[in-house]
Amino acid sequence: MEFRGAHILSVQQFNREDVDTIFSVADSMEPYAHRLRMTKVLDGAILGNMFFEPSTRTRVSFGCAFNLLGGEVRETTDVKASSISKGESLYDTARVISGYSDAIVMRHPQVGAVAEFAKASRVPVINGGDGSNEHPSQALLDLYTIRKELHSKGRGIDDMHIAMVGDLKHGRTVHSLSQLLMLYKNIKFTLISPKELRMPEDIVSNLRNAGNQVIETEDMEKGLSDNDTVYLTRIQEERFTTKLEADIYRGRFRLNQAIYTRNCQPNTVIMHPLPRDSRADANELDNDLNQHPNLAIFRQTDNGVLVRMALFALILDVTEQIDDSSSKVNWYTEGRFE
Ligand code: NCD
Repeated sequence: MEFRGAHILSVQQFNREDVDTIFSVADSMEPYAHRLRMTKVLDGAILGNMFFEPSTRTRVSFGCAFNLLGGEVRETTDVKASSISKGESLYDTARVISGYSDAIVMRHPQVGAVAEFAKASRVPVINGGDGSNEHPSQALLDLYTIRKELHSKGRGIDDMHIAMVGDLKHGRTVHSLSQLLMLYKNIKFTLISPKELRMPEDIVSNLRNAGNQVIETEDMEKGLSDNDTVYLTRIQEERFTTKLEADIYRGRFRLNQAIYTRNCQPNTVIMHPLPRDSRADANELDNDLNQHPNLAIFRQTDNGVLVRMALFALILDVTEQIDDSSSKVNWYTEGRFE
């Protein structure tokens, strides 16, 4: 694909070569993300960071990624504080904000809203999550993490076995990640969820039609065996009509040290897009795995900055100039990324 000026709305817009391009630019961002050097390549540029749903990682890491490239960030984080609450359309908001910004990241509770916004935008728009539909930058950082983790164990993505666990019906991260994995060969997916929260039928049939093996099960312990990666998700309570309805499923599937040791391969990488729901009745990924060397959740969040920097550099077409405007940093930075 042509990255320059492109909107990033869905993983379906990428081919394998595009993913390789993003990952190699992400690799080159390491000295900047790790505060060894700084760059001013986006000096003067403004990011409109518009989050109309709760977010910690995605919002802050997109903002940091833009800052680390030398740009400024303007945030809108509350529908009530924006003119959308006065009845303004996405079309008008997009025309206005794109006049103030050089790139926009948007998260919105409605499926398709970010794509609709992008149509009216005068600058590139990145989908930071649209309802239960897609979360393309999360899928890229997840895949980037999987690639790194498996590489350190002498393996690649092709022929990988992955278990996805939890609310696969509403989880946009697993929708995007599984579809991104269709670019690779012969993946075995074990989809572990309550049957009411299964992965949408159309995604499952796309995975199968692309030649992948897909097993759907409610038996977590059995499903966990024989995987390179296990990817846990939170029950997406905000997508249910009532909290009571979500309560039925909360805590149904949990991974802790004992379950991991009993069922997983010793090398299985543990992932979660976060936030994990650490309340006692949920606790889908237990704190007793915090020190486990295969727990990759905080490597995922660190990698998110690299991947988001790469997306900005590509869509704003500055990948060649990053090192030109770089210099050393002056503040204390040791130890954080070791
Ligand atoms: C996820 C999301 O918002 O879809 N979080 C994230 O962006 N890392 C997952 C979730 O909220 O459960």
